Amino acid sequence: MSSSKQDGIVAAKGRHNAEDPDIFRPFERLIEITIRGKAYNVPENNTILRCLQFLELQRISDAELCWNGNCQNCTVRIIENGRARTAMSCRTEAVQGMAIEEINPAIDI
Ligand code: FES
Repeated sequence: MSSSKQDGIVAAKGRHNAEDPDIFRPFERLIEITIRGKAYNVPENNTILRCLQFLELQRISDAELCWNGNCQNCTVRIIENGRARTAMSCRTEAVQGMAIEEINPAIDI
């Protein structure tokens, strides 16, 4: 792993831990996902919604979200094995290589 990636992990952990230590599940590394074809590094072991929060902390923190599967404001369209499906980002874990094609306007980053 490159030192810049390590530095990014340390910086990310430090930034988020300092503000709210409980919002992310523990992670040791970042994984790469794509959003509309652009690559992003996000924490492993976390839902897509938490990963979006990792990328846009204030935007997601301010959105009207239930975080428990009821409001449907967090839907995303993902491509898996060449097939598109809609998922609730608060209930779906992000995995290495995941491709997100659409994000609900309520949480779009
Ligand atoms: S945040 Fe409400 S359904 Fe996911």
